[in-house]
Amino acid sequence: MSVRRILVTSALPYANGHIHIGHLVEYIQTDIWVRFQKLRGHNCRFFCADDTHGTAITNRARLENRSEEAVIADMREAHIQDFAGFQINFDNYGSTNSEQNRETCHDVWHALRSKGFVVEREVTQLYDPEAKQFLADRFVKGTCPKCKSPNQYGDSCDKCGSTYSATEVIDPVSTLSGAKPEIRSASHLFVQIERLHEFLEDWTQNGNHLQTEVANYLKGHFLGEPLRDWDISRPKPYFGFEIPDSPANCWYVWFDAPIGYIASTREWCARNGEDWTDWWRNPESEVHHFIGKDITYFHTLFWPAMLKVAELNLPTKVHIHGFLNVGNEKMSKTKGTFIRACDYLKFLDPAALRYYFASKQGPRLDDLDLNFDEFVAKVNSDLVGKFVNLPSRTARFIEQVGLSATYPDDGGLFAQAAKDGASIAEFYENCDYSNAMRLIMENADRANKFVEDHAPWSLKKDPTKAGELQDVCTIALNLFRQLATYLAPVLPKLAEQAGRLLNQPILHWDDAQTPLVGRPVNKFEHLMQRVDPKQIAALVEASKEAATPSSDDSTGGAMQADGPEALQAEPLVAECSIDDFAKVDLRVARVLAAEGVEKSDKLVKLTVTLGGDSQRTIFAGIKTAYDPATLVGRLVIVVANLAPRKMRFGTSEGMVVAAGPGEKDIFVLSPDSGAVPGQRVH
Ligand code: MSP
Ligand code: ZN
Repeated sequence: MSVRRILVTSALPYANGHIHIGHLVEYIQTDIWVRFQKLRGHNCRFFCADDTHGTAITNRARLENRSEEAVIADMREAHIQDFAGFQINFDNYGSTNSEQNRETCHDVWHALRSKGFVVEREVTQLYDPEAKQFLADRFVKGTCPKCKSPNQYGDSCDKCGSTYSATEVIDPVSTLSGAKPEIRSASHLFVQIERLHEFLEDWTQNGNHLQTEVANYLKGHFLGEPLRDWDISRPKPYFGFEIPDSPANCWYVWFDAPIGYIASTREWCARNGEDWTDWWRNPESEVHHFIGKDITYFHTLFWPAMLKVAELNLPTKVHIHGFLNVGNEKMSKTKGTFIRACDYLKFLDPAALRYYFASKQGPRLDDLDLNFDEFVAKVNSDLVGKFVNLPSRTARFIEQVGLSATYPDDGGLFAQAAKDGASIAEFYENCDYSNAMRLIMENADRANKFVEDHAPWSLKKDPTKAGELQDVCTIALNLFRQLATYLAPVLPKLAEQAGRLLNQPILHWDDAQTPLVGRPVNKFEHLMQRVDPKQIAALVEASKEAATPSSDDSTGGAMQADGPEALQAEPLVAECSIDDFAKVDLRVARVLAAEGVEKSDKLVKLTVTLGGDSQRTIFAGIKTAYDPATLVGRLVIVVANLAPRKMRFGTSEGMVVAAGPGEKDIFVLSPDSGAVPGQRVH
């Protein structure tokens, strides 16, 4: 087999949010593929970087009241640590805010300019006069110009699904400052990718660079009509690289982000005395990108276009995966299913998630569902029950004598698994990991049956059966080692431990072809623990706690911008003095009992205490938003000196304070933990 030169990338995670288990679908998928290629003896390198530019970073920096550079430096550390925790092994992890990237952007830009692909055009855009900047569509909200639904984003309407430009939005407001944006024009630079239409048609439809469904999607959605010019610049201020021949502008983040793949390669090459063009301008070198389906467009149209013009290698293949759901729903912070990588690591073994994802991931774009019951079952039955079980029930019996001198007759088990190696390899190569895991586990089943049938624990009791015991254990451990080799891309740590057990590290895929004989067996080290559903419950609980309003990243990765609508809906009332405020006596109270008032749609009857025996009855209009039972025990804030009010159902002796416009949107206030009933709120 000839040695392939393979460059592999995962998408560059945004530096404005932490790595979560959704991201990990991709980074684990890619890491498995890279480890597989390396194990096969190929010259394979895995490059990634943080994606650091754009408005989302600036907004996070503003909210945290520090510089963009400080934000991206901290996030980089966090990302690197999370990836290491999941055994995701990059050959280089760069940053799009690096000098290598700036330089490479200049090179690509020069190619686009000199070949006449760039045109300049005035763009009218919404401008926030208070924040003093042009507004990206997502920072504009207003009424949909098509269906007139209020409170829609500047690019599309989630009620009627139509897309439009931000300047068409009715009554727009800037979500940055709440100001009413003005329409201003600025000159932008565009890349005319329509000039590459024919090339892109050919590249996307032929040569097997894309999964069939992706090729069809592009043909149906984009390639049937002229490709629109790509707006590649953003007026300053913008956190990005200044465009050398247009210094009033920066490159749009999606220009310099994929170029970060090359910059990361260059960093690695500089460290290792290699020439980056051997990877990016060498027809012998393969380039494989792994990405999620949400960023298909950038990687299958713009990116190949840029590479083509810059005369760099085109992707050999863009491997696109679906999205992660948890329990068949989108990951949710309130449900505790928006799980950060670092939180997972506090409760569970990374090998468990790596195996679980592998067992569920196929070569297509289907979304992948994390089902906790299935997770527990698979890890416990496959990894602990079938795989780890083999050495844990045999290794210690032959610690003294080692493996038999010749490989005993095992009825063809080793030979069969050796033969299956070719199919398993093909599954890995095609990213069909679920079938690879299935075939590996079929072999594990046969190996376990062998151990079961030969019961080494019984042989152990009979000194005349010592030879037979040694043979049975030799077979079991060799079958284990074979499985460990096939699982090494998924479970690198377990494969290392398997290597230590038998004094022979697993270094090549073909190590599964020949059994080991006549060598010592080391002391069996603990390999893996069963997953206890309690660990998952604790993880989910911890993920709920992390989801305070000040915590970051929604699924899209961007910091949420708070819109001005709430304030506009209820403008501020006339100013009051501190003395006026002091007249209102707000107290912490605990809800002792809560029941819905039967004849009322709105009222809940609460019994609260301000501590000691100071109980009161309060009628609160919160029935539309709260199940009374959930209120019992919690702390609330009440207006304690409000004149009692006679109502149809009784007298209300105070008021519970809450925010929100009403109906489903009522939010009862509570103090941070530590407060006790009776304390005054100042
Ligand atoms: N910064 C861009 C990529 C630039 S590549 C030149 C980006 N970053 S991201 O942090 O939002 O996402 C990184 C990768 O993780 C993307 O490929 C994205 O599809 C993937 N995923 C993010 N959330 C995901 C799930 N919930 N499920 C599966 N993959 C997910 O996009
Ligand atoms: Zn609409």
